[in-house]
Amino acid sequence: MTGIDYKAEIQRLKKKLKVTVAAHYYQRDEVFEAADITGDSLELARKCKADSNPWVVFCGVGFMGQSVKIIAPQKRVLMPKIACCAMARMIDISYFDDSVKYMTDRGVAKEDILPITYINSDASVKAKVGEMGGMVCTSSNAFKIIEKGLASGKKILFVPDRCLGQNFAIQMGLKSCVIGEGECDPKEADIICFNGFCSVHQLFTVEDVEFYRKRYPGIKIAVHPECDPKVVLAADFSGSTSQLIRYVDSLAPEQKVAVGTEYNLVNRMRKKNTYVLSSTKPECPTMNETTLEDLYKTLKSIEDDAPINEVTVDPHIAKYANLALERMLAVE
Ligand code: 13P
Ligand code: SF4
Repeated sequence: MTGIDYKAEIQRLKKKLKVTVAAHYYQRDEVFEAADITGDSLELARKCKADSNPWVVFCGVGFMGQSVKIIAPQKRVLMPKIACCAMARMIDISYFDDSVKYMTDRGVAKEDILPITYINSDASVKAKVGEMGGMVCTSSNAFKIIEKGLASGKKILFVPDRCLGQNFAIQMGLKSCVIGEGECDPKEADIICFNGFCSVHQLFTVEDVEFYRKRYPGIKIAVHPECDPKVVLAADFSGSTSQLIRYVDSLAPEQKVAVGTEYNLVNRMRKKNTYVLSSTKPECPTMNETTLEDLYKTLKSIEDDAPINEVTVDPHIAKYANLALERMLAVE
């Protein structure tokens, strides 16, 4: 025991310093409760950019803090844990280049490819996308971003989440395929997906949906679009974390609902009649790394004039990644 009352100290430091604490919904409850700004990935990026404090302490995974640093470079962004989203790690710039080559080798000219990267990717991948005239998207705006991309008349290369790419293709009545999975002819498809995925959201299965429907007739099923397309098709609703919260809030209190997304968020939703759509606890290991002690230490480092875990981005990468992020933010 250190004897430090972390909650009280965090409040004291937040009052004293010009700092905003941001937290994603998947953070541990005690960390989430200490935040000034919360939201899904898009809301967090927008709110942090609009915030007037010079310091942001971001509780989430690496790409989130990195994105804030890129769109608001004047800010000092610290992360109590620079934990990396496992899906974001599935693609780097060489895999991105290989995906472009896959398409050009099969007869699609590079100028006819419009890349879209899910925000769950490293800044270096976003920069590649930005350089090629592409955009970033999140789970809450993917429909609009893909729609805008298609208006260019080009083929969409969607990285890294194959599920998100396929789910929106289905929703929009488009043809998609996944590089490395069966026949994937980029000339035949509208959206060509990289073969990445979120292991947490792969835990939810069609069998889970069937189990809950059988056990509680009339139950609603709500899932994140990082789930497998078969699961999304079997569900009543799919949406970003904020959209899932609004959907569950809109239901009558007696309406049962099973939710397919990270445990900390589902557990925080209304306690009665809400179920986790899995028999396995769907925890995101990296989101769960940040503790109240880490948050305290990070805030204290600002008070001590020795900031820790500061997010920095190479200026060349930041320039092009910002293009891709700003193109997304320009879409309402
Ligand atoms: P949201 O943008 O919906 O909050 O999703 C972030 C994420 O990482 C989901 O796994
Ligand atoms: Fe990444 Fe999945 Fe964790 Fe979301 S839940 S941060 S996509 S590993």
